[in-house]
Amino acid sequence: MNEGSLITADLPRRHFLCESAALIGGALVGSAVPAVAQECRITEADIIGPFYRVGAPFQTKLAGPDEPGERLTISGTVFSADCKTALPNAFIEVWQANSGGVYDTSTPGNFTETMSFHLRGVMYTDEKGQYQIDTIMPGRYPIPPGLAGLEKYAGLTRPAHIHFRVMESVHVPLTTQLYFKDDPFLATDPWAGHKQTLAIDLKQDGALRRGTFDIALARGF
Ligand SMILES: [Fe+2]
Repeated sequence: MNEGSLITADLPRRHFLCESAALIGGALVGSAVPAVAQECRITEADIIGPFYRVGAPFQTKLAGPDEPGERLTISGTVFSADCKTALPNAFIEVWQANSGGVYDTSTPGNFTETMSFHLRGVMYTDEKGQYQIDTIMPGRYPIPPGLAGLEKYAGLTRPAHIHFRVMESVHVPLTTQLYFKDDPFLATDPWAGHKQTLAIDLKQDGALRRGTFDIALARGF
């Protein structure tokens, strides 16, 4: 076994990296290429944060043409814990700040203060387990003061992120956040700083930025 050798499996997504758990030395006699046993990693959880709200509308286009900010499209597939079995009809909630780092609520923890929703949506994955959201790049914002347990972080700038909650009937519900690689505030963030697998690359496509965020859920049985 050579624990120092890790490879990325052929799954193209980076947030549930499938790395070799073991290289079976000697399995292929006379071959320089060892057999590889692969291990799949479920998507890391993250905090729900202070600005989650219940009741967002079914929509995948979160930002209209008049919304300020860089256009962003995120797509992906929700998988079971094997990182291979796609999950149709998984329920996804997404919410984010606007380009100025402001949510549609300024009252942390008030989940139901208004029925007006902005830059939020819920959706189901399709028959292939896939989803897509069309939105804008979220702005960074400081951690609000007065959050129980987070007092020492008040004022610290969070990296840009989009919140996700994902539920599927026989899997463990996941709350997490999507980050963007090369964000200079990732390393100092109390959460993103040690959840590097949640940060994705973006590709420029004309005026649009595109990214892929696949999600692997833990089995509930
Ligand atoms: Fe947030």
